[in-house]
Amino acid sequence: MTSTPEQFVNHQNKLDRLRERRQDATRGGGPERVAKQHADGKLTARERVEFLLDEHTFEEFDQFVVHRSRDFGLERQLYPGDGVVTGHGLVDGRRVFVFAQDFTVFGGSLSETHAAKICKVLDMAMKVGAPVVGLNDSGGARIQEGVVSLGGYADIFLRNTLASGVVPQISCMMGPCAGGAVYSPAITDFNVMVRNTSYMFITGPEVIKTVTHEDVSKETLGGADTHNRISGVAHFAADSDQHALQIVRELLSFIPSNNADDPPRQPTSDSSDRIEPGLNTLVPEASNQPYDIRDVIHAVVDERYFFEVHELYAPNIVVGFARLGGQSVGIVANQPAFLAGVLDIDASVKAARFVRFCDCFNIPLIVFEDVPGFLPGVRQEHGGIIRHGAKLLYAFAEATVPKINVITRKAYGGAYCVMASKHIRTDINFAWPTAEIAVMGAEGAVGVLYRREIGEATDQLEARRALVSEFEEKFANPYVAAERGFIDEIIEPADTRPKLIRALSLLANKRDTNPPRKHGNIPL
Ligand code: HXC
Repeated sequence: MTSTPEQFVNHQNKLDRLRERRQDATRGGGPERVAKQHADGKLTARERVEFLLDEHTFEEFDQFVVHRSRDFGLERQLYPGDGVVTGHGLVDGRRVFVFAQDFTVFGGSLSETHAAKICKVLDMAMKVGAPVVGLNDSGGARIQEGVVSLGGYADIFLRNTLASGVVPQISCMMGPCAGGAVYSPAITDFNVMVRNTSYMFITGPEVIKTVTHEDVSKETLGGADTHNRISGVAHFAADSDQHALQIVRELLSFIPSNNADDPPRQPTSDSSDRIEPGLNTLVPEASNQPYDIRDVIHAVVDERYFFEVHELYAPNIVVGFARLGGQSVGIVANQPAFLAGVLDIDASVKAARFVRFCDCFNIPLIVFEDVPGFLPGVRQEHGGIIRHGAKLLYAFAEATVPKINVITRKAYGGAYCVMASKHIRTDINFAWPTAEIAVMGAEGAVGVLYRREIGEATDQLEARRALVSEFEEKFANPYVAAERGFIDEIIEPADTRPKLIRALSLLANKRDTNPPRKHGNIPL
């Protein structure tokens, strides 16, 4: 097909206009605001998207969308894209949707059209079954738009909720995220916060000062460390924008694109038959001596690589992703090196949410158990340990993904039941010979059962020692549980890796369901 010179020039002009408009749309709020963004140690929205995605894979939506507001002189301030860059691209060759708020345009504030762009991405991600990554950097609701902007937030919250458990959703906080805006990240599966530049709070320091007279900085109130260590709102703390985006890329490598998909497999040169002799002597002789459960995890998983989630929060339980024989697994492990691995409110909530994520997204669960029970104390009881501990019990019990448990040492009391016991549908229950499965520790048991006898003995110390030793002999082992079939196999610790890989292979086609119902009523 040939065109006349006049047609050719016309086409050329149209192409030039498109290129010009595209170029214009990449300028954000202009060079000064971009320079300030950089001076503040932050990348721009576009730089973040480019860093997150595989090279040259970003396909942008709604580049020319502008706000519709005619008040407060806004009609003279139109920025193509309206403060948010949206679209999709690839991460390690897999499709991912992304939105990145542009702080250089109206402080990344959320207008009606800004919200509609985010909603479009969420809707499309649901349609094609791909994860959504939100890069948040915003002054909140676009003040000039009033309730229209609030409605935009609610539109997003609804979609976050409907997408929950269907496609993975990851939020990165890379600047302000305040007021009701925090509830979008709060509903998503994982939150990454950048140290020193990001913060999240419902009401900021000034309002707090007026209302409660407390003096607090933004960082202390809602910075990355606060939300990683104290509130548990965030799962990862990053040192820079680049670090945060690397965390997101890595997280995505362990999880499937949607709830009907399986997690990607990663070939490994680590032998499935690798035995680890050091594990045979890892658990200390004295049952009150600590050891680091991460040593067990590292020794067992592919390439000894463990990607820990929520590392800084409730360190008495360890959760995260790893691979076994190339298959992605979620690991939940009591940590004897911190508070003896006891279950408290924070640990229960942390682990319950992780278990439910893995169950939503077909990621098998591996449990390493060494737990002396639930933490006693008035603060725990008044804080609702009953309700919060029940969340973990509920999460393990309702999970239908393959579930494998390895009891390395203590499995005491209610915590025995909660931590993926056979009774709540765990598929394979292993125990090491060092396992102690009992209602409580020998010292405590003897104190309850033989207080009178010990009191009447001439040598009370000797009487107690003899009773403790008798009790340990009878109960502080895995054999009583194994005789009942509550433990499927007592294994040599050195063989844990091959045993787990074979168990996963056995369970590869596992099918289990819950009764038909609208949804369960987890004790929130
Ligand atoms: C419109 C906004 C804005 C907003 C910032 N800007 N926030 N425009 N609506 N919410 C604009 C500023 O006017 C400025 O424009 C530019 O963005 C950068 O803001 P600065 O203040 O210069 O930046 P900085 O000093 O870094 O301070 C950032 C900030 C501050 C802490 C976020 O801007 C701020 O406090 N903003 C208001 C926050 C707020 O109260 N939001 C509403 C929360 S309630 P120029 O043209 O000068 O570059 C909410 C409800 C959500 O969000 C409810 C959901 C259910």
